[in-house]
Amino acid sequence: MNLSREVLQSENEIAERVGSLGREITDYYKGQEISLLGVLKGSFIFMADLSRKIKLPAQVGFIEIITSRKTEFLTEIAFNSSFPIEGAHLLIVEDILDTGVTLAYLMQQLQLYQPRSLRVCTLLDKPHRRKVDLHPDHVGFQVPDRHVVGYGLDYQGKYRNLPYLGYVE
Ligand code: IMP
Ligand code: MG
Repeated sequence: MNLSREVLQSENEIAERVGSLGREITDYYKGQEISLLGVLKGSFIFMADLSRKIKLPAQVGFIEIITSRKTEFLTEIAFNSSFPIEGAHLLIVEDILDTGVTLAYLMQQLQLYQPRSLRVCTLLDKPHRRKVDLHPDHVGFQVPDRHVVGYGLDYQGKYRNLPYLGYVE
């Protein structure tokens, strides 16, 4: 699979949409503190840009989900235990929501720590691929069922540093 010449969303289009997501989130949580929890590695660029567009007191943390390559069963979930979850307005920041299996699992685990609220912001959504009943609260763009790369998203570890969103084919 190689990088397609086709651009899905340009740098400017992403910046504009991330700005409006920031305003949407700021309005929703008005007057409150929030905890932003990014899912590594794909969300690292989105988090950097989005967090600066949220005009609220916010803590920022990251979590990594370790997936077994052989079985595709989720095996382990790792995060920094000093990150405030109990009693917090927790907003998960994801790169892309595909089948939803990963996020459903993460949300189930996080609920055990009793956040005050738990919501999801995903840059990209592939709604047609969903296998679980999961509706993200804030969505940047809906995308077709193709493998998207760039702006943090990878294909076999590559293309995360592309400044725009594209495809591999
Ligand atoms: P899900 O459990 O099927 O929703 O998978 C979600 C994870 O798979 C995402 O957080 C991504 O890390 C990865 N993923 C799914 N689709 C894509 C894609 O088109 N490009 C890059 N990564 C993807
Ligand atoms: Mg991800």
